[in-house]
Amino acid sequence: MVFEKLQDMGHENVVFCHDRETGLRAIIAVHDTTLGSALGGTRRWFYENDQAALTDVLRLSQAMTWKAAAADLPMGGAKSVIMRSSRDEQPTEALARAMGRMVDRLNGLYIAAEDVGVNTQFIDWMAQETSHVMGGETVSRGGDPAPYTARGVVNGIKAGLQAAGKPGSLEGVRIAIQGLGALGYNVLKIAKAEGADVVAAEMNTDRLQKAAGEFKIETVRLDEILTVECDVLCPCALGAVINSDNISSLRCKVLSSGANNVLANGAADAKALRERGVIYCPDFVVNGGGLIRLAGLYVGWSEDKINSQIRNIEPVTLAILNDTDKHGDAHTAAIAYAEERIRAGKGAKKSGNLQTA
Ligand code: NAI
Repeated sequence: MVFEKLQDMGHENVVFCHDRETGLRAIIAVHDTTLGSALGGTRRWFYENDQAALTDVLRLSQAMTWKAAAADLPMGGAKSVIMRSSRDEQPTEALARAMGRMVDRLNGLYIAAEDVGVNTQFIDWMAQETSHVMGGETVSRGGDPAPYTARGVVNGIKAGLQAAGKPGSLEGVRIAIQGLGALGYNVLKIAKAEGADVVAAEMNTDRLQKAAGEFKIETVRLDEILTVECDVLCPCALGAVINSDNISSLRCKVLSSGANNVLANGAADAKALRERGVIYCPDFVVNGGGLIRLAGLYVGWSEDKINSQIRNIEPVTLAILNDTDKHGDAHTAAIAYAEERIRAGKGAKKSGNLQTA
């Protein structure tokens, strides 16, 4: 079963980790290292069972390969998950350091970073055990990637607006944001600075009130945000929120997601969105800004090079959207774009011309 899955999805290494002292249970999945070693977040989550954790890490790591390739990084794709022992298990230094040791054993094949449930403090604890972790503030480098991810998401929105026949500026554009956490808040900040009208929903009332106090925004109920009338829908909370049950109710012209795996059924949902006349900017293309920042620092890029690569998200997204006819839907077009880069990397590797991390 497991090997069939790995063969089907193309994974190279999946490492099951158990630390006797802390009880840490984690899985590290390295999907593809054709273009170089692989940087991907460490997610701390409560999973109902081992299978759910494995499914999650396999899916997330595959998407990281596409994300890194679409961002034109000399990196492959990987991800790791730490299985919380209970829903309210708190992150501790001991657990983080145990995870750091597990990452270190892979000698840089996998480079860890933040994801859901992991903050800069956790990263710095991990970094006491390994140099192959990015996104900390004291021991590790890079800090919170969310402002960079948000900049990329906004660049993706601009490409989506152009593909919808509108000017690529946010002035007067109505953007609906689901979730005002690290990413959604930064998207809000940039969108408001560039003249957009924002409508938002957030589960955490303190966060919602803080954002509403700081910026002039309209707020709606949690069950209203996805179907609110807007130019751009920008989910920045959980994955799989767009699905066959709600696509016919969407009232946006562009869907550009900060959240990973926003479509419950990738190609099928992307096709349905197209039939409804919604321009879908593929999530793993537009939300790669944070990865570009951390991976760029890891491989020694300058801030200028990092920022220009994040700006590049706009033309890359537009090129993919312009290629949608050929592939039937934007999700498939984005995968084709990423896989073309991996194929080119494979060719360069054979000829000895590939510059890897
Ligand atoms: P976060 O945990 O800081 O924020 C998520 C926010 O969504 C929280 O404030 C939460 O209360 C809210 N939320 C959850 N369910 C909701 C719902 N049904 N309606 C409204 N609000 C809801 O996480 P972060 O970092 O902002 O990430 C958000 C998404 O973006 C995740 O899917 C993550 O994988 C993805 N992402 C984040 C990146 C980053 O740099 N932070 C990079 C790439 C992807």
